[in-house]
Amino acid sequence: MKQDTHVLIVDDDESIRRLLSVVLAREGYQTTTAEDGLQAIDAFKAGAPDIVLMDIRMPGLNGIEAMQQMHAIRPGATIILMTAFAELDTAIQAIKLGVFDYVVKPFDLAEINLLVERAWQMRDMRKQIKVLRDELSESFRLDRILTQDPAMLALCAATERASKSSATVVILGESGVGKELFAASVHYNSPRARQPFIKLNCGAIPEGLLESELFGHEKGAFTGAVSRRTGKFEQANGGTLFLDEIGELPLILQVKLLRVLQDKQFERVGGETTQKVDVRIVAATHRDLAAMVEAGTFRRDLYYRLNVINLSIPPLRDRPVDIPLLAQHFLRKFAQEHGREIDGFDDLALATLQGHPWPGNVRELANAVERAVVMSSGKSIFAEDLPPEFAERARSAAADGDSAQLAAIAEPGGEDHSLKNLVRNFEAQVIAQTLQSNQGNRSRTATELGISRRALLYKLHECKLDSTEE
Ligand SMILES: Nc1ncnc2c1ncn2[C@@H]1O[C@H](COP(=O)(O)OP(=O)(O)OP(=O)(O)O)[C@@H](O)[C@H]1O
Ligand SMILES: [Mg+2]
Repeated sequence: MKQDTHVLIVDDDESIRRLLSVVLAREGYQTTTAEDGLQAIDAFKAGAPDIVLMDIRMPGLNGIEAMQQMHAIRPGATIILMTAFAELDTAIQAIKLGVFDYVVKPFDLAEINLLVERAWQMRDMRKQIKVLRDELSESFRLDRILTQDPAMLALCAATERASKSSATVVILGESGVGKELFAASVHYNSPRARQPFIKLNCGAIPEGLLESELFGHEKGAFTGAVSRRTGKFEQANGGTLFLDEIGELPLILQVKLLRVLQDKQFERVGGETTQKVDVRIVAATHRDLAAMVEAGTFRRDLYYRLNVINLSIPPLRDRPVDIPLLAQHFLRKFAQEHGREIDGFDDLALATLQGHPWPGNVRELANAVERAVVMSSGKSIFAEDLPPEFAERARSAAADGDSAQLAAIAEPGGEDHSLKNLVRNFEAQVIAQTLQSNQGNRSRTATELGISRRALLYKLHECKLDSTEE
């Protein structure tokens, strides 16, 4: 809003001050005026103007000196200098010192209007960028990594500690476990959060182009290099470079990467001059890097260099408590996105989700839930809304008896072989066993099973085990 934008007009010529005030006020800006450099500094301190429109030649403190003091007081203000033709050189020099622009006297009012308008747009854009960046860093805060699994919680704590340093981090884990989410958390929780976070997927770029992607190239470095191009290392300077699928990096580039990590410098492809950079590396892969080192496909020295901090994300099937948690999260998210009112999962649907091995991990779960939200016609998600192969897998495992565990569960189930019944029987068995091993003490049983005492009582009632004495 222009009404929120405060312009300070500084000129020793009263008629110019008055004219500019009237014109800019008509455009909607708030204006104040000052007669010379010293008054301007006072007004600058008192009014915190967004834009300063200032003459260069003034008695006492001139415009250049005043501008420098203003920059020292508050670097964010946008300063436009007004200059006579004779001082054009000074004005051009001032641009290097951080002045937004200059206008040569005598100017016409349209020109001034345009310039102030541009300064205003630039400030507005900067504000929007800040909002976006804050939102982005918000969405990568560690607490956005949903989990209740103890190993994952420990991993989040380790990630937070790792974020505070500039140490290289390697993130390992199967496809879809959240490697990129963790990589972004490392960056957005680090002191580099306001600097760039640049990603490069080493597996998605043709081998011949990878070097130039990483290090950039000079014009004419190779056929097709029609202009100079900066690489990811330069783009990430001051910030973090996320090398995804690092296991796909060809050996020859592994050597070059190692050198950058050691010397913090490199040359562009086809270039002579050495570029110095300060970049933090976070690498990720779904491959077993240690095994690749043994097999000779990943350099040992690079592995050690990268592997300063190692975050291994467990697959979803190893943290079953996260399945309902994430399922609920994605349900809420996709129900809102698709404008559907769905509150939860029916028991059988939840049991089906919990019984699935999730080879595609969290991403697969997100997709399954989104599909279910789209397919469902009721207020809950039912098993038949889930991908058909889920239920089939569970059913055939139960029917074939190929899993000793499922067979054991099925045993007391009687005639009813529905998954819901199997799951309930299994639950009853586990509860009964735990109760027994705790001599019937319900509080200890509840603690051991990781549920509240109230939930245990409810389940005991449901499984008709509630005659058991405390
Ligand atoms: N613990 C979690 N909490 C919330 N969302 C998660 C969690 N883990 C993963 N996700 C979400 O799941 C999706 C997949 O995660 P991500 O892309 O980080 O996985 P990845 O390990 O990089 O996968 P790939 O190996 O396929 O590249 C993303 O949308 C991510 O936001
Ligand atoms: Mg990824």
